[in-house]
Amino acid sequence: MSLKKGEFVGSLDCGTTSTRFIIFDKYANIVAQYQLEFPQYYSHPGWHEHDATEMMAVCDTCMDEACKALEDAGFDRSSIKIIGVTNQRETAVAWSRKTGKPLCRAIVWDDARTRSVVSTFQRKLKTTGIEVKHGIWRNGEAGVNALKELTGLPLSTYFSAIKLRWMIDHWEQVRKAHDEDDLLFGTVDSWIAYNLTGGLKGGLHITEVSNASRTLLLNIKTLDWDPVLLKFFSLKSSILPLIVSSSQVYGKVMYGALKGTPIGGLVGDQQGALIGNKCLRQGEAKCTYGTGAFLLFTTGEKIVYSAHGLLSTIAYQAGPNAKPVYALEGAIAVAGSAVKWLRDSMRMIRTAEEINYLAGSVPTTSGVFFVTAFSGLLAPYWDPAATGLIIGMTSYTTPAHICRAALEANAFQTRAVIDSMKLDSKNDLKHLKVDGGMTNGDLCMQVLADIGGFEVIRPEMRESTALGSALLAGSAIGLFGWDITKPETLAEVNTAGSTPFIPTVTAADRDQRWDGWERAVERSRGWNV
Ligand code: G3P
Repeated sequence: MSLKKGEFVGSLDCGTTSTRFIIFDKYANIVAQYQLEFPQYYSHPGWHEHDATEMMAVCDTCMDEACKALEDAGFDRSSIKIIGVTNQRETAVAWSRKTGKPLCRAIVWDDARTRSVVSTFQRKLKTTGIEVKHGIWRNGEAGVNALKELTGLPLSTYFSAIKLRWMIDHWEQVRKAHDEDDLLFGTVDSWIAYNLTGGLKGGLHITEVSNASRTLLLNIKTLDWDPVLLKFFSLKSSILPLIVSSSQVYGKVMYGALKGTPIGGLVGDQQGALIGNKCLRQGEAKCTYGTGAFLLFTTGEKIVYSAHGLLSTIAYQAGPNAKPVYALEGAIAVAGSAVKWLRDSMRMIRTAEEINYLAGSVPTTSGVFFVTAFSGLLAPYWDPAATGLIIGMTSYTTPAHICRAALEANAFQTRAVIDSMKLDSKNDLKHLKVDGGMTNGDLCMQVLADIGGFEVIRPEMRESTALGSALLAGSAIGLFGWDITKPETLAEVNTAGSTPFIPTVTAADRDQRWDGWERAVERSRGWNV
């Protein structure tokens, strides 16, 4: 059978628990795709690791199999004109310059082992301070927010430099590689780009700027690694990748089904979803409910510093000479992973989808609150010592109430982030666009609208993360006339409809539930001393 020639763009989306390769046409219709889960390693309480070699093998399989599916659909694989890559963000990968192989397991973004590293650096800020251009920074009062001005981020177990410091301090082979200039460090985008472009045989050691903005090493104003931060964390600059924009041709795939195909987009997955949802204008927001939940609000070319527990982050940079676009972000560590926990560890449900039926079998949680602080609490609370807590149980409580409380936890944390966002941005949020696996459940969405008190809009096509990196890649070569800096050029992209969810509870009811949530959060805090 002779295969047709088409024009498509591919996107490799390497998330926390699964990877997919999706091939889109110019309207963002999915022409072919392939998805695989990969192993998660939880060897101690609070630890979460990936094997970077396994991760890459899964990426390769997804690309190969999606290309086969494209052929099954009647198209030659050369129809894929360019690919983009999007990835779980702060996960730290360390590999050897000499062998091209990982030196250790990758430490995943929600791993909480580094609480002591955070405390050490907090003490350092208090005692010695951090040296900046104008002398010693007064920092005693600044606490976890002392690096915010430079990085947009609080000191937290979440970010990559803290994980890298832990690797160097605890794993001899990483320390040695750091001392002997054999260490190459990167986030997942960097590891994938290195491998796709040839690995040991000339692979590029690059990282994209939105990913770099999650390390605690990037100065978010200059878009460069900041020597002050490197010195503060005692890291050598030779280990760091070259920072590149989110949309440009970086190189070509050097092997496999896509050999010779240019790579034109790299972006952190949450920023990818922001772009895929076309939230490109100031004031537009989306929330993705995957392993965690991540609400991003575009602030345009202006950095808005949060006074209410949010991150200032780079959304994307549309090309090497483009100005960066910034976003405010509320990162919630546990969303879909709570459903996974109810399924795999508590065995209250057999499939993730079942949570909607079980939770829907009761009208309320009957006073149960579930603070899902399995990796401490991120935005807007930033408490690494918080632990998971279920409170309000009586002998009347059943798994249905606990499952409903897990869905509500999601909604309460989203509301907490949105309240902060309103205060920081001085904008009201009329509606929230959502995507990610958890949004498939109608009950989950209705609970979100009821607790949040805003309209929730769920698009039909929810592969927004992959679409975001596809749009960046297409834009890099002007494919389909796309230009990420001109939203009007994307007017025909993803015009499939959406389902709205409108709040149905009274404000008094909402406030009463909110009060219960806040009291539950207080009890979960500071437990892990
Ligand atoms: O910051 C972590 C985030 O990038 C992970 O995303 O979709 O794998 O939960 P996800």
